[in-house]
Amino acid sequence: MQIIRETEALREAVTALRADGGRVAMVPTMGALHAGHMALVAEGRRRAAHVVASIFVNPKQFAPTEDLSTYPRREAGDARMLEDEGCAILWAPDVAAMYPDGFATNISVAGVSEGLDGAARPGHFDGVATVVVKLFNQVRPDVALFGEKDYQQLCVIRRLVRDLDLAIEIVGVPTQRDADGLALSSRNAYLSDEERKAARALPRSLGEAAQAMIEGGDVAEVLDRARTRLAAAGFDPIDYVTLSDAESLAPLATLDRPARLLAAARMGRTRLIDNLPVLSA
Ligand code: PAF
Repeated sequence: MQIIRETEALREAVTALRADGGRVAMVPTMGALHAGHMALVAEGRRRAAHVVASIFVNPKQFAPTEDLSTYPRREAGDARMLEDEGCAILWAPDVAAMYPDGFATNISVAGVSEGLDGAARPGHFDGVATVVVKLFNQVRPDVALFGEKDYQQLCVIRRLVRDLDLAIEIVGVPTQRDADGLALSSRNAYLSDEERKAARALPRSLGEAAQAMIEGGDVAEVLDRARTRLAAAGFDPIDYVTLSDAESLAPLATLDRPARLLAAARMGRTRLIDNLPVLSA
C-alpha cells in the first residue's frame, strides 16, 4: 500500500491504478479505524478493483468547543489495518495540503443538513460537504462508501452528489456493532467502563422504539418513552430522538413511509449518535 500526502503524487498513483481498467472505490475516514471502517473497505473491494482510503481529521467539521485537538490519531496502526484489508493507497494529506492559505470555499447543502446534528452542531455538515467534495475531486473514485452510523452525513452526501452531478456511486454500509449492541465509533474510546455499560441503553432503546412503531405504537408516545429510558440510563443532554423520512430526514409524526429512527445524546463527555431503519409493517 502506498501512503501519499501530496495531491500531484495522488493523481499519478490513481492514474496508474486505473491503467488496468478496473474501478476505483474510495473510503473517506478521519482515522482511529475500527471494524466499521474495515467493513467499508471490504465492501469497496467487492465493488471495485482498487480501494483508496483517506485519513484526514477535518478541522472544518469541528466547532471550536469540540474535540479536534483530542480526536484519536494513530496513523501507523491505521495504515497496517488498511494494508491488511487490501487497500491500494492511503491518502493522508496534512491541513496545509488540504486547505492552503487563502482557501475560501464553503459547500452547504440546504434542507437535509439543517435539523438533527446540523442543529446541534452548526456548520458541521458544511465542513463535511466541503471536504468530501475535495476528496472526491482529488481521488475521482467510481464508488464511495460511507457508514450508515452517520446516517445524516450519508443523506447529505447523497444529496450533494445528485445536485452537483458527480459521477460517483454512493454506497451506505450498515452500522457495525459490538456484542453489547453499541455502534462502533472512534469516539467510543472516550467512554469509561461504567459509561460504556450505561451507553448500551442507546441501541436498546432505539431497538425497542423501532419495534413498537412497527407494531403500530403512537410515534410521539414511543419517542417519549425512548427519551425517558435514555435519561434514566444517564444520558444528558439528549439532543434528539426522532423519526424522520429516510431520505429527506423531515420529521414524521406517523410511520407512513420508509423512515429512520435517529438519536443523539451525551454520556459523560462523549456525544453518541445511533439510528435504525423503520419500515411500516
Ligand atoms: O465520517 C467521517 O469520518 C468524516 O465525516 C468524513 C466523511 C471522512 C469527512 O471528514
